[in-house]
Amino acid sequence: MITGKAKLAGVIGFPVSHSLSPVIHNYWLSTYKVDGAYVPLTVAPQKFKGAVMGLRDAGFMGANVTVPHKEAAAKLADTLSPTAEKTGAVNTLVFLPDGAIHGDNTDGYGFIQNLKAGCPTYKKHLGRVVILGAGGAARAIAVALAETGAQEMLIVNRTEKNAKKLIKDLALNAEPVAWNHAESALKNATLLVNTTTLGMVGQQPLELSLKALHDNALVTDIVYRPLKTDLLKRAEKRKLKIVDGLGMLLHQARPGFAAWFGKNPTVDAALLKHVLGAMK
Ligand code: ATR
Repeated sequence: MITGKAKLAGVIGFPVSHSLSPVIHNYWLSTYKVDGAYVPLTVAPQKFKGAVMGLRDAGFMGANVTVPHKEAAAKLADTLSPTAEKTGAVNTLVFLPDGAIHGDNTDGYGFIQNLKAGCPTYKKHLGRVVILGAGGAARAIAVALAETGAQEMLIVNRTEKNAKKLIKDLALNAEPVAWNHAESALKNATLLVNTTTLGMVGQQPLELSLKALHDNALVTDIVYRPLKTDLLKRAEKRKLKIVDGLGMLLHQARPGFAAWFGKNPTVDAALLKHVLGAMK
């Protein structure tokens, strides 16, 4: 039930209609019987700052921020978490009681928590890590993997200069690799992460031979439409361990929910079933 005292939060994007965040947060609100609501907020870039200030002034607890506002959110926040500071991107805003706006980036946390849930021995796969892509998601994931102890990291990207920029901006100990050298970069890799949109419904396929990967490699994709991407299917055929991308979305939502609604939510089979139902 929503009363006059309900706590409010939402997701700000442009567009936002495809976002699964309202499905996730409202599931938890109902499961934990929290007096609150979480709504989708379509906000054009030029209106972003005004909208955030308005939500704060209207008493919202905070908001998630998605494409294309993540960098603007980092600029607008009064304080940033170390990860948000490093990546220059914010996906979770928390409005503090004194009116200050705190920004966090929970994408890397979501990525690692998903890896852990899908492959409890994931730390054994941090020897030679190959990341495909150098966009916003790759930034958060590269930082998280470096902090978790990746020994060697290669960033393979279509536009090599973007991989170089990512490594420089984040001060990472990593090597940029041009896309046409991707297959040789996979040699003996123990973890392969796809952060590009290749393989997503409606996008081009990800054509990459997995032959060179280490026989004990772990392969994960942040694409979750389809849930089992062609990359994951091919990895499975090679008898490699796989982790799909939906859990990253579920886990990245947890810190925001805890900050706004005061309960630490869990990611379980019932939530997964609920979200998969909403995706159909
Ligand atoms: P996100 O925030 O989800 O990471 P993004 O910042 O737009 O999205 O990044 C998309 C990534 O997918 C980039 O690394 C992009 O490569 P470029 O830097 O060359 O643009 C990669 N990507 C997108 N389409 C691609 C394609 N057809 N082939 C190879 N890489 C592609």
